[in-house]
Amino acid sequence: MTKTVFPDNFLWGGATAANQFEGAYQEGGKGLSVQDVLPKGGVPVSAGDKNPRITEEPTADNLKLDGIDFYHRYKEDIALFAEMGFKVFRLSIAWSRIFPKGDELEPNEAGLAFYDQVFDELAKYGIEPLVTLSHYETPLHLARAYNGWANRDLIAFYERYVRTVFSRYKDKVKYWLTFNEVNSVLHAPFMSGGIATPVEDLSQQDLYQAVHHELVASALATKIGHDINPDFKIGCMVLAMPAYAMTANPLDQLAVRQFANHNYLFSDIHARGKYPNYIKRFFKENEIEIVFAPEDEEILSHTVDFISFSYYMSVAQAHNPEAYNSGRGNIMGGVTNPYLEASDWGWQIDPVGLRLVLNDFYDRYQLPLFIVENGLGAKDVLVDGPNGPTVEDDYRIDYLQKHLVQVGEALQDGVELWGYTTWGPIDLVSASTAEMSKRYGFIYVDRHDDGTGSMARYKKKSFDWYKEVIATNGASLY
Ligand code: BG6
Repeated sequence: MTKTVFPDNFLWGGATAANQFEGAYQEGGKGLSVQDVLPKGGVPVSAGDKNPRITEEPTADNLKLDGIDFYHRYKEDIALFAEMGFKVFRLSIAWSRIFPKGDELEPNEAGLAFYDQVFDELAKYGIEPLVTLSHYETPLHLARAYNGWANRDLIAFYERYVRTVFSRYKDKVKYWLTFNEVNSVLHAPFMSGGIATPVEDLSQQDLYQAVHHELVASALATKIGHDINPDFKIGCMVLAMPAYAMTANPLDQLAVRQFANHNYLFSDIHARGKYPNYIKRFFKENEIEIVFAPEDEEILSHTVDFISFSYYMSVAQAHNPEAYNSGRGNIMGGVTNPYLEASDWGWQIDPVGLRLVLNDFYDRYQLPLFIVENGLGAKDVLVDGPNGPTVEDDYRIDYLQKHLVQVGEALQDGVELWGYTTWGPIDLVSASTAEMSKRYGFIYVDRHDDGTGSMARYKKKSFDWYKEVIATNGASLY
């Protein structure tokens, strides 16, 4: 077998988010989050559909309310992750379990105790937790009463929340992420930023001011975390989507640059501690004036220890996008690239793009990187296997294998990478569409789009495949 190119201490694992898999949305004193009123997912799916459907109250068709019941089955699920050999498990803390409304002065002890149990269970197997502090689950009260991150008050509420969990888990958790896909707030302001103003009424001024509040909050969390435990490793998390020029026309290349800058804005500020020059022209031309509090400049200077990102797909960009088919994608999109195939949900599959992203981020920042999401959402069919029900998910194995080979290439290019967590190692509810049928897991969960199913867990073919990848530290990929 070929020698591996993955470093000895490489952190292999999987990634989840509380709102997509815990369920128990009202147990243990949990308050509602924005997800509990998004039964159809939180992402506008086409240009004509500017707003996802937001309900007044949680409705029975919202699969996230019960998720896949990790809240009650965490022991069984963590045992399966351990069987695959996970070194790391990414999960988020549901903010509304700790501060049910978000603006209370005292935390909810039952919520804190739940995560103690989960971290203790992970520790039994030597699995390192990687914790996202805010993964598309702003407490609903903060959205309704304050308009989410559009309001500067959110910084203080977030500060109280992160101080609480940093202090409580300072000896149990070392790796932290401040905001999931922090750049997504530009595209899904309610789901990502708890901003209740309808998209069509939301000004660029208010949107970028909300971005500023999140960036200040993130830097503040980094500062506070390092004060509480200097060994903490605190990273930002961005949605990475490389763009290619549709043609060699320099104007298409310029379109790529402008698309990329709206994503770099977030990682640049997290890594360099200040606003980049290129955004100033955009602000000027769009009459955006970010209001800085006196302390903001200093707070922003507290930069992250590492850059983490999700990667599913790439897009193409053109100066005249109307001339091409538009490409659907993970929260943001572009034009369809004729060189690439797409998933059942239209996300264009591009393993080489992952190598490019890794090189790009590393060249830009010289900071360690962490791939915290990657995977294929696909329709799985449960069949009878020799050891019970299973899924022959060769397509998923193929996707992951090709991406991991490109990760290996990037490692040989000289990139420093701490780890790799696949999205949804166990099937969970989709963020964009709230479907159960968009499955990513190595473990099948018997739950369906209509809410039926026993919640039983079954190992797919990819379960043993990933187990072998981890056991050989990547050598089995070749
Ligand atoms: C990322 C999110 O955008 O992609 C996850 O961080 C999400 O929460 C994942 O689930 C996959 O997207 P989807 O829409 O297929 O669930």
